[in-house]
Amino acid sequence: MFELISKNLLAPAVWRYTVKAPEIAAKRRAGNFVIVRPKEGSERIPLTIVSSDPQAGTIDIIFQVVGATTMDLSETDGILDIVGPLGHPTHIEKFGRAAVVGGGVGIAPLLPIAEALKQAGNNLTAILGARSSEFLILEEEMAAISDGLLIATDDGSQGQKGLVTDVLQPLLEQGALDFVLAVGPVVMMKAVSELTRPYRVKTMVSLNPLMIDGTGMCGVCRCRVDGQTRFACVDGPEFDGHQVDFGSLSRRLSMYKAEENKRREARN
Ligand code: NAD
Ligand code: FES
Repeated sequence: MFELISKNLLAPAVWRYTVKAPEIAAKRRAGNFVIVRPKEGSERIPLTIVSSDPQAGTIDIIFQVVGATTMDLSETDGILDIVGPLGHPTHIEKFGRAAVVGGGVGIAPLLPIAEALKQAGNNLTAILGARSSEFLILEEEMAAISDGLLIATDDGSQGQKGLVTDVLQPLLEQGALDFVLAVGPVVMMKAVSELTRPYRVKTMVSLNPLMIDGTGMCGVCRCRVDGQTRFACVDGPEFDGHQVDFGSLSRRLSMYKAEENKRREARN
């Protein structure tokens, strides 16, 4: 059992947990994730490591309560299994003018990547989007490490009214970016990739398919990238957004919706 050190509600149904996991904290790098099983009978879900403190031996994870497993996680005082760190760390280099684009809970995995891009000497713009102000997370942390912070909310309650792509477009038109990394809903990552494509701005996205083992054995996390089958857990989770087949990713993500709904209803 992994001890829960602290539990903070960041936004409606969005939790930040600090968990004692010394071996993972010592090895983790930006972009790594863990696979978590909250308790006996729960599914296994991948969650990006948002931060770690190797001295204290802790890692932070952020999740949104959407189904039975995340409900289990939100109610637990300790986590049964945590496997990691998994996945390739983010490829970081000095691209020049870099933008990180985060949508909703996707802002959580973006934070360590943004930190690493800034540390590598990039001029960093953070573009954060949420349905409304109350769903916007990690704004202060992003502001502290960015050269510019731009916010979009669907309802205009904070920052510009609109989507992250509405904020990104003028920067692309001005030729102000050399690199973009986007994390959020699949439709958002697809829209960002389509937007940057004609400007030939390198664009990476972090994919979030279903996962079971996280070691390349079960095949559940397979995705189509550049016409080839890739496993997000061992080949990713980050891929070139201009090569990802987002349609097949969306279909695979909704494959077990009926079973997920049944399990959630059984819990209510
Ligand atoms: P949401 O649906 O509220 O969207 C957040 C923001 O994304 C919006 O405010 C908007 O700015 C942008 N967006 C959404 N649709 C868009 C579109 N069609 N075009 C352009 N921009 C668009 O987000 P949520 O409810 O917080 O859900 C978060 C999603 O992120 C979930 O689907 C979750 O699975 C996913 N997620 C992905 C990762 C990952 O690693 N890729 C990690 C965590 C969460
Ligand atoms: Fe099993 Fe990736 S989660 S192969």
